[in-house]
Amino acid sequence: MRSPLTNPFQAGSDVVPDVWAGRADQLSDWRDVLRPRRLAGLYETGRTILGEPGTGKSSLVRRIARDAADAGDWVTPQIRMPSGADPLKLVASAVLRLADAAGLRASARQRVTDILDRVEQVAISGFALSVRGSDGPEPSTALFDLLVELGDAAIRQDVVVLIHIDEVQNISDDAALSQLLITLGDALSHEVEVRLPGGGSALRFLPIVVYLTGLPDFEDRAGARKGATFARRFRTVTLAALDEGDLLAALQPFVISGWETADGDGGVDRVTMRTEAARAIVELCCGEPFLFQLAGQGAWNAGQADVVTEDDVLAGWRSAEGEASAHVERILGRLPPREHEFIEAMGALAPSERTLTNIAESMGLASATQVGPFSRRLDTTRGIITRGKPYSFRNRAVEAYLTTDWPRA
Ligand SMILES: Nc1ncnc2c1ncn2[C@@H]1O[C@H](COP(=O)(O)OP(=O)(O)O)[C@@H](O)[C@H]1O
Ligand SMILES: [Mg+2]
Repeated sequence: MRSPLTNPFQAGSDVVPDVWAGRADQLSDWRDVLRPRRLAGLYETGRTILGEPGTGKSSLVRRIARDAADAGDWVTPQIRMPSGADPLKLVASAVLRLADAAGLRASARQRVTDILDRVEQVAISGFALSVRGSDGPEPSTALFDLLVELGDAAIRQDVVVLIHIDEVQNISDDAALSQLLITLGDALSHEVEVRLPGGGSALRFLPIVVYLTGLPDFEDRAGARKGATFARRFRTVTLAALDEGDLLAALQPFVISGWETADGDGGVDRVTMRTEAARAIVELCCGEPFLFQLAGQGAWNAGQADVVTEDDVLAGWRSAEGEASAHVERILGRLPPREHEFIEAMGALAPSERTLTNIAESMGLASATQVGPFSRRLDTTRGIITRGKPYSFRNRAVEAYLTTDWPRA
């Protein structure tokens, strides 16, 4: 039965949507590289996943974490950093909860009990502990020690510990940020001795995986402070738009066999989608995960029949246009003035005219070198443009917004 209640599209934040598209590289990185390697005691860096709002950073890692938890791994919930929060405090409480779940509390070893006590203090007082001086435990050392114990227990259970810290750009205290990153980095590069089945021993890394997610600002802001250690211990990926093939593939189950829903009588119904309707959704959303869900949601809610038509998509989109504009405006509005000007100037030029020299000229600047830094950040850090010959937009929603009357269908 097709109703808002059975709508499988979810346009919100921090959800793992039922209609999932793409991100195959990142999912495979977890499944085929990161998890198996850390589980085997081999080294892998932490992962930092950055991107503009709505690119699906939180969803991606939540999905990875959900799959991990289903497989028996020890997973923190998504640890969201509110603006100005003390990161050590939040991470300490999340890791404590993992330690509880892992049964560390039941340990007969005095050392473990001591560590748990120390981390509990960190969970209460956080970074402030180290500022107060030497009377309390050093918060980062306590957290590090607990991670090592947890990692050790995970080795015995043959599982991985997964830590997900979200909205990392909100950690505004440089000292606290650097303590957190160093602690996590130290846990990732810590080696422990394990006994081998045939006798003898070997060194291995702990089965700990860390995902940091947040806005690209994290890269700039913390860049200088977090230093070389961070760069070596975390690998950064910038998420960009989804490609059309992936989005069409995500809608294929609707088109081919229909999407299963409850029929209201304890049975199941199937809601199908016309090929043209699927195409229209993919075209309207411009590759933005959030807009994909928004378009799908609107189309589903636009009628009750068992078939979603192109008219449904258009009707649904009309009611979502305001939100679609707001989504792009949020991306543009967050840009520093020069980067914003750059994007506007680029959009005003015909696609073949988008060279660095032309863009600089439209911005009233004498030379291309003056705009170099902005264009580099818009490309590498934000994933909004591609510095090819000529320059082009990688964020297709931004392009459509600036150069056509999109979101008007
Ligand atoms: N791979 C994906 N396929 C389909 N929809 C997605 C995907 N990733 C995210 N979304 C949707 O996009 C929206 C924003 O996702 P979210 O993870 O909150 O973004 P971010 O954390 O980058 O701001 C959510 O509605 C979510 O359902
Ligand atoms: Mg998010």
